[in-house]
Amino acid sequence: MVIASLLLLLTATQSSASPSPRSASSPRSPNNALLKSSGCGSSPSWDFNSKNHHTRNTTVDDHERQYLIHLPNDYDVDTAYPVVLSFHGANGNSAGQEDASQLSYDRQRLADRRIIAVYPQGVKGAWESAPYAEADAHDSDIRFVSTILDELEDNLCLDRNRVYSSGFSNGGGFNNLLACTPSINKRVAAFGLASGAYYPAAHPGSSCKPGRKVPVLMTHGDGDPQVHYHGEHTNASSHSARLSRLPNISHFAKDWAERNGFERDGYKCTRMEGTDKVHIWTWGGDDDDDEDAVQVQRYRVLGMNHIWPTTIKGQQRKHEAAPFNLTEQVLLPFFEKYTLSL
Ligand SMILES: *[C@@H]1O[C@H](CO)[C@@H](O)[C@H](O)[C@H]1NC(C)=O
Ligand SMILES: *[C@@H]1O[C@H](CO)[C@@H](O)[C@H](O)[C@H]1NC(C)=O
Ligand SMILES: *[C@@H]1O[C@H](CO)[C@@H](O)[C@H](O)[C@H]1NC(C)=O
Ligand SMILES: *[C@@H]1O[C@H](CO)[C@@H](O)[C@H](O)[C@H]1NC(C)=O
Repeated sequence: MVIASLLLLLTATQSSASPSPRSASSPRSPNNALLKSSGCGSSPSWDFNSKNHHTRNTTVDDHERQYLIHLPNDYDVDTAYPVVLSFHGANGNSAGQEDASQLSYDRQRLADRRIIAVYPQGVKGAWESAPYAEADAHDSDIRFVSTILDELEDNLCLDRNRVYSSGFSNGGGFNNLLACTPSINKRVAAFGLASGAYYPAAHPGSSCKPGRKVPVLMTHGDGDPQVHYHGEHTNASSHSARLSRLPNISHFAKDWAERNGFERDGYKCTRMEGTDKVHIWTWGGDDDDDEDAVQVQRYRVLGMNHIWPTTIKGQQRKHEAAPFNLTEQVLLPFFEKYTLSL
């Protein structure tokens, strides 16, 4: 037991000693030991193509499901990589989310390591919690995520203490549901939500019972014409109107702050450096040893449309660009602060 812990510590030390651009700017180095998955030490049974992609087909509750995996270029069976899942928006797909999120870019790093990026595919382009999601997807999308985590652990070398999840729009709403679901949030260290559609079934309010303090970061444009920053205030009482209501993002963030043990108004408000278009509300400190450090962050981007924030336009980025790249400037540094201790 003692030897095993020592080995883990040694591995962690060696890994964080490898040079990387991020280590210079990182406010602290990760101190939790990494936890290698059972897939470490042997080459993956899955075939990866020349672009380091594999599309995995699996079965969940009699549904055929798919997810796209991107391995780091230098994938090594003895390095426990962090994992980031990223869920597409309504009518989207895995490839589009890979393009929009830039998570597969070679330059992305988390805790001085490259990452394994995973892009699950929703049934008919939608995720559980949206009123337009397949009725029989009920609960099966959450089981799909458990299956993905099981399969990744068994087949690849990853750091089980550093698994993270993110999503855009309907995929952001689904991520909120995942953050509220103890069977998932005990395996996922932190969550990132971009322009999320937090329908009632995504548990934006009091029905969210996460069972632990969950680090959550959300970004939302106040020019979003599809998922309004100030919510949808329909007073219609029809069934479909009730399923489609969306929260005021400010209240939504405060609900998370309260769940994590903060005062609703106990935030500090800052601006992103280099732009006056990004306002940031932060609950919780920066001290790793402090329970209260489990942060909630809300980014309001002035005038921004319904996008995964990035400074460039692309296939899935028809709208005007954002003043920052969410993935490398905000999301990965946020994730880096949090590890599970399984
Ligand atoms: C999974 O299914 C898709 C489409 O049905 C196919 O293109 C792909 O090659 C399959 N992947 C594997 C590993 O069999
Ligand atoms: C959303 O919440 C904020 C903060 O409480 C408030 O200032 C704003 O008026 C709310 N918007 C709507 C449309 O209720
Ligand atoms: C609900 O909306 C209708 C019209 O959209 C309006 O006439 C009515 O006053 C509203 N009721 C409440 C309680 O806000
Ligand atoms: C955002 O990412 C794009 C694509 O890699 C890059 O061209 C651009 O310089 C990045 N922007 C910033 C502000 O880092």
